[in-house]
Amino acid sequence: MNGYRDLRVALLGCGSVGAQTARLILEHGDELAARIGARLSLAGIAVRDVDAKRDVELPRELFTTDAERLVQGADIVVELMGGIEPARGLILQALQGGADVVTANKALIAAHGPELSDAAEQVGAQLSYEAAVAAAIPILRPLRESLAGDHVTRVLGIVNGSTNYILDRMDRFGDSAEDAMRVASELGYLEADPTLDVEGYDAAQKATILASIAFHTEVPVDSVYREGIANITAAQVEAAKSAGYVIKLLAIAERLTSSDGVDGVSARVYPALIRRDHPLAAVYGGKNAVFVEAEAAGELMFYGAGAGGAETASAVLGDLVSAARRHVIGG
Ligand code: HSE
Repeated sequence: MNGYRDLRVALLGCGSVGAQTARLILEHGDELAARIGARLSLAGIAVRDVDAKRDVELPRELFTTDAERLVQGADIVVELMGGIEPARGLILQALQGGADVVTANKALIAAHGPELSDAAEQVGAQLSYEAAVAAAIPILRPLRESLAGDHVTRVLGIVNGSTNYILDRMDRFGDSAEDAMRVASELGYLEADPTLDVEGYDAAQKATILASIAFHTEVPVDSVYREGIANITAAQVEAAKSAGYVIKLLAIAERLTSSDGVDGVSARVYPALIRRDHPLAAVYGGKNAVFVEAEAAGELMFYGAGAGGAETASAVLGDLVSAARRHVIGG
């Protein structure tokens, strides 16, 4: 159609992000083809249960339970299953087969990013994961590409939307921790295992990914100091408010330079007191914001939706289009 060649896209997973990604590929097909110079052809969607209810109505014939088979012959594999296995094995299979890979899987990238990047490098494939940190907010590509010539010294911000929502309700509406958590859960903001959000694991995974890219070095997730919001009480939030502060769960990664010139990285996640006049104090609800400090660029701030099906799918599509363009240029 329209003389464009097809690029076979294999989608692994069809939760809210997967369903929105499939919708955007199908609905924006012509526009994307014109932009890329090739058509993104959705070869299939691998799921555990073909008949499960989805957020978006999609052609039934796209669904398969055979993820390995779907990956074979794909030009680009989009992994949105989450978790470590089988996602890791399927991504390695895809890369070894020469496909480019797009993923939103923060837990996997935080734990196995270097292994997967090496596998991609060995075959000249592209592995991209913009959606893994702060969903719709473009932050990994700016760090990796736009700031590639600068010297980033610090990255800090609010990278977990559900805990920000909980703390914000406690601060602005006087909710108890339990009530705020219940509303966040009802709105579907929390991970299936809420401990990942509340105890700061999710933010620590994102801090690892941010730090590794910002400082061009491997920052293992277990090197990140982590303290969640589970022990924050309404009384503490109120006391902070009376003193002119708001409590926010921050992820901070800093470049350390010792007197002998050896660089290191400090990464930490903890509930911090933010002055009311600081821009991060005005990051309400489930929104995210990331500050970047770089030697020449100075201070930069990135703000927007850090979660949500369509919002996360926007970042996935950005990576997908970038991978597709590589295929077109590569011939
Ligand atoms: N549970 C995550 C959050 C979802 O609250 O930010 C997006 O990564």
